[in-house]
Formats: sequence, C-alpha cells, structure tokens
Amino acid sequence: MTAGRVAGKRVLVTGAARGMGRSHAVRLAEEGADLILIDLCQSLPGLEYPLATPADLDETARLVRSHGRRAVTARADVRDGEALRAAVSAGVTELGGLDASVANAGVITAGTWDNTTAEQWRLVLDVNLIGAWNTCAAALPHLTERGGSLVNISSAAGIKGSPLTTPYTASKHGVVGMSLALANELAATSVRVNTVHPTGVATGMAPRSLHAMLEGRPDLGPIYSNALPVPIVEARDISNAVLFLVSDESRYVTGLEFKVDAGVTIR
Ligand SMILES: NC(=O)c1ccc[n+]([C@@H]2O[C@H](COP(=O)([O-])OP(=O)(O)OC[C@H]3O[C@@H](n4cnc5c(N)ncnc54)[C@H](O)[C@@H]3O)[C@@H](O)[C@H]2O)c1
Repeated sequence: MTAGRVAGKRVLVTGAARGMGRSHAVRLAEEGADLILIDLCQSLPGLEYPLATPADLDETARLVRSHGRRAVTARADVRDGEALRAAVSAGVTELGGLDASVANAGVITAGTWDNTTAEQWRLVLDVNLIGAWNTCAAALPHLTERGGSLVNISSAAGIKGSPLTTPYTASKHGVVGMSLALANELAATSVRVNTVHPTGVATGMAPRSLHAMLEGRPDLGPIYSNALPVPIVEARDISNAVLFLVSDESRYVTGLEFKVDAGVTIR
C-alpha cells in the first residue's frame, strides 16, 4: 500500500508545465497520487509574457516520477474541448481511472478601461472560464460513478474587484459562479466542486505593464496588498489547499471558496 494523503488517486492537472500547476502536481505526487499533466506548451499572441515550453512539461513529469508516481503528459489547449476530452480519456485509460481534476491553466492581460480590447476579453474568458469548464467536462464522465473532486483555480481577483485586469477579474469571478452551479448539480453524485483563491505568487504569469500601470495609480496599490506581513506567498502554500480538496479529508466539503490569500481579500 502506498502511503500518503492522496495515495493511489489519479488526478488531472491543467497548466501543469510550470508555476503553480507544476507545484500542485509535485505536491500531489509527494502524497501518493498519479498524474495526468496537460499544458499548451506554446506562447499565445496577445499575452505580454511567454507561456510554458514542452521541456517544462517534461520536467514536471520527471519531478512526479522522482516521487515514484506515474505521470502521463499531453499537449492540449483547454480552449479546445474536444482535444482536451481526447487527451484526458487517453490519460485515464493509461492510469486506469480518474479521481479528481485541477483546472489550473490560466492567462492574464492588463489594461485600463479605455485600452482593454475585445480580443483580450475573448482570450482571457476563453482560457480561464471556458477552459475551466472544459476541464470539468472532460473529467466528469470518468468521475461520476464513484464521486470525485473538481478543484477550480480562481484567484483573490475572483472575490474582490482587482483593477487594471478587468477581463481576468471577471473570468475568476466567473469560475466561482460556474463552480457553485456545478457543485449543486453534481452533489447528488458525490462529485465535489470547490475553488481556490491565491494571492500573488511569483510565477511566469507576469505582465510587466501591470506593474507600470500600478505605479501610475498609487491609490490602487493597497488593493493588491496582503494583510499578513508577506508580499507574496509560495506556490506550495496554494498546493497544500489543492491537496486537501483532492483528498478524502475534504469528503464533505463542496462549494467552498478556499482563500489562500494572506488576507488580501479582507482589505
Ligand atoms: N501567479 C499568481 O499570482 C496567481 C494568483 C492567483 C491566481 N493565479 C492562477 O493560478 C493559475 C496558475 O497560474 P501561474 O501563476 O502558475 O501562471 P503560469 O503562467 O506560470 O502557468 C500557467 C500555465 O498554464 C498554461 N496554459 C496557459 N494557457 C493554456 C491553455 N490555453 N491550455 C493549456 N495550458 C495553458 C501555461 O503554459 C502555463 O504552464 C492560473 O489560473 C492563475 O490565474 C495566479
């Protein structure tokens, strides 16, 4: 018998190549899970920072395997529901089942009200909101017989009105509504649906223009300030929340908005 808080569970993670997705995968592997790791592994026009590479995804798989766990990788775009379903089904066949998913892939754009474009709206909602929906929909056919756990990564921006990132803030609020609606629909089948709301974490998701814009709007800076005396938190702090929600320790937790935000949302 494998030891660990999620021993033997098979978990899908999107956006798994780097950043928090990698951290969630590794933390789950440390506690005995096998992983289906999906990422686009390609940059997208319209973003001011690069996305992950195929080498990044391979490295996440290597780290998972270094904990003695299985890792299946696939390159897929969460915006493409059909491709995602096919990749998840192939992974499930290889691992012999699925117990949970973590919809973590996400992108951000920055802008003021008068220079935010329709293209930015469509890109951010497509990846962050429809992508999270596609991830749930790809996982669900494999879960409903025994129940399971859907973890959808929102943000502190999914609770408060984080400015200068309006499409992102709207998408992360959308993830909450989608998750609460699904939690109600799926409760009868023992599928739990919860959201996680991180404060700032240092990852590759770094639009330089946001920093510049905030410097020009010192009145808005405090909205991004944590209450606890720490400017940013570690990816592992967020992964510990994901681990709890995937594990049976949270077997009667559904519809939770789990803040790991150093108190930024109480300000
Ligand atoms: N970094 C933060 O401060 C912060 C705070 C709150 C919430 N979040 C959320 O945490 C999640 C992870 O972000 P991160 O900070 O690790 O950023 P990141 O950019 O390092 O990682 C995101 C990953 O998603 C992948 N990805 C992007 N678009 C994709 C698509 N269409 N299909 C498949 N994969 C795609 C990228 O290649 C990348 O590997 C995101 O949902 C983000 O919104 C981040």
